[in-house]
Amino acid sequence: MPKALVTGGAGFIGSHVVDLLLEKGYEVVIVDNISSGSIKNIDNRAKFYQADILSDAIGTIFSAEKPDYVFHLASQISVSKSLREPMYDANMNILGSISIMEACVKHGVKKLVFSSTGGALYGDPKRIPCDEKTEILPLCPYGVAKFCVEQYLSYYYRVHGLNYISLRYSNVYGPRQNPFGEAGVVAIFAKKLLKKEIPTINGDGAQTRDFVYVSDVARANLLAAEGSASGVSINIATGKETSVNEIFEKLEKNIKSGIKLKHAPGIKGEVRRISLDCSLANRLLGWKPKVDIDEGIKRTVDFFREEE
Ligand SMILES: NC(=O)c1ccc[n+]([C@@H]2O[C@H](COP(=O)([O-])OP(=O)(O)OC[C@H]3O[C@@H](n4cnc5c(N)ncnc54)[C@H](O)[C@@H]3O)[C@@H](O)[C@H]2O)c1
Repeated sequence: MPKALVTGGAGFIGSHVVDLLLEKGYEVVIVDNISSGSIKNIDNRAKFYQADILSDAIGTIFSAEKPDYVFHLASQISVSKSLREPMYDANMNILGSISIMEACVKHGVKKLVFSSTGGALYGDPKRIPCDEKTEILPLCPYGVAKFCVEQYLSYYYRVHGLNYISLRYSNVYGPRQNPFGEAGVVAIFAKKLLKKEIPTINGDGAQTRDFVYVSDVARANLLAAEGSASGVSINIATGKETSVNEIFEKLEKNIKSGIKLKHAPGIKGEVRRISLDCSLANRLLGWKPKVDIDEGIKRTVDFFREEE
């Protein structure tokens, strides 16, 4: 039975990666410091280490567990925190990732799958959907750090032979996303509408994002680990734009709260429109999104409704 180590496995996306690995018969080890994740997301069939990716414990855990595959999702995920505290972000997201890459090389890991971003890499693109050749023009330290890790991955691949795939996600949504975070508009609005609170949209709500459902993202992680492609960064998205206003309407169709949106001033520098071309994922991984936005929103609302 292959063994997988998942950093950030107590978080939103990481816990879905763990679910899928367990379903496919992998032995799973989770490393998470529970800074933004939750103990209740941890499946008791997985072995859990509460540890920071920057700590010396990482070497000990890799020596003891000898994982075949590593899925590296642990990260500080706040764009605004990265703007306020770029050194904190770089420490967690660049040095923390180097710690994982070093451990992978030292312990002969077969492949590392890294959770990167597409949404925060390409800036405010002139042409959409953006493919992977689009110029990298991040507008926040979080995006710079993710791209920096991709450069390190490429170095470890070329010089140390570490196999990897970097997955550049668009806006991921679905069950277990933190509804109290700054990002994750589907979770935030769903929770508010179910509680009969008024959600606020920054700006006119016509800004678009590419929303990809979390189980599709988990499947991309598994395909990336098991496939033969290596040494490459790949968009994981739908290629479709959905506006924030449309998200509200779709949620309201399921929740029927009767609540109207409130508009706040737009955020300066916010990307106006984005979607990512995911044809490379199809070619290299045989991956395509399966859950469309209407079905994904329904499943997400069902999850938050059950939680109420
Ligand atoms: N959610 C999205 O739309 C999105 C988009 C692009 C990329 N990503 C990336 O996907 C990954 C997972 O994001 P998520 O949305 O599930 O966020 P999340 O906050 O739910 O998950 C991150 C997990 O990492 C853990 N963690 C954070 N710092 C750690 C550290 N120093 N040591 C050990 N554990 C630590 C947290 O406790 C949490 O469980 C991240 O790398 C994020 O940058 C997410």
